Amino acid sequence: MGSKLVGCGSALPKLQISNDDLAKIVETSDEWISVRTGIRNRRVLSGEETLFELASDAAKGALSMAQVSPDDVDLILMCTSTPENLFGDAARVQRELGCKNALSFDITAACSGFVVGLVTGSRFIKGGGYQNVLVIGSDALSQYVDWSDRGTCILFGDAAGAVLLQACSEKEDGFLGFDLQSDGHGEKHLNAIIVDEGELPADSNDAPDFPPRKPSYSCLKMNGKEVFRFAVRCVPQSIEAALDEAGLPSSTIDWLLLHQANQRIIDSVANRLQIPSHKIISNLASYGNTSAASIPLALDEAVRGGQVKAGDVIAMSGFGAGLTWGSIIVRW
Ligand code: ACO
Repeated sequence: MGSKLVGCGSALPKLQISNDDLAKIVETSDEWISVRTGIRNRRVLSGEETLFELASDAAKGALSMAQVSPDDVDLILMCTSTPENLFGDAARVQRELGCKNALSFDITAACSGFVVGLVTGSRFIKGGGYQNVLVIGSDALSQYVDWSDRGTCILFGDAAGAVLLQACSEKEDGFLGFDLQSDGHGEKHLNAIIVDEGELPADSNDAPDFPPRKPSYSCLKMNGKEVFRFAVRCVPQSIEAALDEAGLPSSTIDWLLLHQANQRIIDSVANRLQIPSHKIISNLASYGNTSAASIPLALDEAVRGGQVKAGDVIAMSGFGAGLTWGSIIVRW
């Protein structure tokens, strides 16, 4: 059994934050941010907006493009590291969409989440019994960013993107090859670890071990230089491994669609793989790094904007916290 992408959608918060807006709260400038990262604007959740509503809107877009009814969805994979419910947001999205026949669960793999979700969805279809799988990438890292740390707060935005994967014959299979990796030794370079922020009693030696104090996550901490080095080293290798599995040379790639983290990373990977700049999909300038949402968000814009056409071969690659990384070669 093969699988192919038959629809995509995306959704963004309303509030736009420009580089100049950030220069009002931390010591930075539009020039520094745009030269070092390529980012000019980002969107951030505000007011009554919620991440699971963004995810649901993105999924509705994918269902509508694919002309598939919510009743016919068998599986919903919600790829996120920032769920609003500790136990995951997938079932809320299922409820919101009315996909009453679907199994739903969350996948956490940071900025690689969407690629991991796509591979997972394609494996479910390949195993039999699943026809229509919604894969949603959705994150709101704005809620975990230290807005006084200029090394990280300039990078991130919130968004959701989704695709619908559909079962098809082996002959029509749009999943040509993939490669998935992780290395927990790199956790120190990028994390938001749980911390115990409970009040210690005056004499902390007498602090009871039970009941435990209420924990919470620290803000996101990143060694940008190390993450940069990791990305430019591992992503080209991963795309080459996925191409090898597909039995295709890099010249068959019509579009390079990387996790949107830094334009210098994207250009370096393209250069290493000898992919010309007109084959790069990038919307980083408008939305920044939207973690698991960045690939499906950029895909949706490229499909709706007429850039990506039926039959085009796309190399997608995600990389980020964990460390995790992975690539997938698909035919749209
Ligand atoms: N404005 C002005 N100056 C700044 C800013 C800022 N926003 N941030 C840092 N600086 C300063 C630093 O303090 C430093 O000053 P110094 O030389 O006086 O010490 C100087 O600029 C250089 O700082 P670096 O951190 O070395 O800058 P670098 O060129 O490495 O760029 C960046 C930083 C943009 C974060 C880059 O390292 C990067 O993009 N890394 C990759 C991040 C990434 O891809 N993450 C993806 C995964 S995200 C996920 O999984 C959740």
